Amino acid sequence: MKKHFLIAVIITAVMLILFGCAAGKPDISAQTSHVENTSETETLPPPSSTAAGSESSSETTSSVPAITSENATETTESDDFYKDSVLYKPENIDRYINYKMKYPDYTYEEVITFVNIGIDMDHYSQITSITDYDNLNVLVNKYRRLPAEYKPELVKLSSFLCYSDGSGNVKEHYLREEAASAFEAMHAEAAKSNLSIVAYGTYRSYETQKTIWEYAVNSGRTIEDVDSKNARAGHSEHQTGLAIDAMINTYDVTQTGEFKWYSANAYKFGFIIRYPEGKEAITGYSYEPWHLRFVGVDIATDMHDNYSSLTYDEYYVRVIEPAL
Ligand code: DAL
Ligand code: ZN
Repeated sequence: MKKHFLIAVIITAVMLILFGCAAGKPDISAQTSHVENTSETETLPPPSSTAAGSESSSETTSSVPAITSENATETTESDDFYKDSVLYKPENIDRYINYKMKYPDYTYEEVITFVNIGIDMDHYSQITSITDYDNLNVLVNKYRRLPAEYKPELVKLSSFLCYSDGSGNVKEHYLREEAASAFEAMHAEAAKSNLSIVAYGTYRSYETQKTIWEYAVNSGRTIEDVDSKNARAGHSEHQTGLAIDAMINTYDVTQTGEFKWYSANAYKFGFIIRYPEGKEAITGYSYEPWHLRFVGVDIATDMHDNYSSLTYDEYYVRVIEPAL
């Protein structure tokens, strides 16, 4: 391994000299190249299409040299770093090498993690169809889509668990049974501290999500802005019946005692804050302090205790997927 490490260091140094890669470790939160810009919006495919082949991106026009047969021999020694990893996927080897060349300060583990998530590619450009949609740990993001016809078995939440507006109007809310009982248990525990954690948003069908996204785009917002806040149809966790927007879906929520309480305790009931602050470039979404995702107590506790800096996208490819 020492020999391999030395060779990789030399190769990386040579690449740095040859291609002038930035010396500093890139801040992934500052990367925007995988977010579609407005000029691409006219050619964006509808959410039901499988690939966005017409999308262009700065990734594809970057100065990172492609791995070709001419220089492939240079990379074979460092391939071992990837191949030795439990996260290694042979089909991604060229993408690991390209991403590492572009971001040489990332560790091999970070490179594999980000590439396995799909971060090296444009959002919605390479879509995996989700087949384990009934799994409580299902990963739904901008690279993984639920079938349009997928609708989980749902239960109705009791009205005391639902947000009530100033006039006392209470909207009906539905969740998967496991998420509903966990939410009720969390509500009951918080109530002991005179707090009332209620659901503002819950299950949404594919059609509803499609309407929301299209309405947002037609209201004059840029695609980039809409995509940073609203999932396209098939890509929303709300379609799983496992996501809850707690209290209210504005940043006012952070001023509530309920937010402070669930930030500290939600994991005990199997919930995570799915789109954390500062992780926008990984999750693809702005910080959503209100969006809770039920993943089960074991996973939520493991993430809280052992992987507190990881998003669920990272945790999934690093911990869940290798164990599948
Ligand atoms: N706001 C979240 C990302 C959704 O639309 O599912
Ligand atoms: Zn939400």
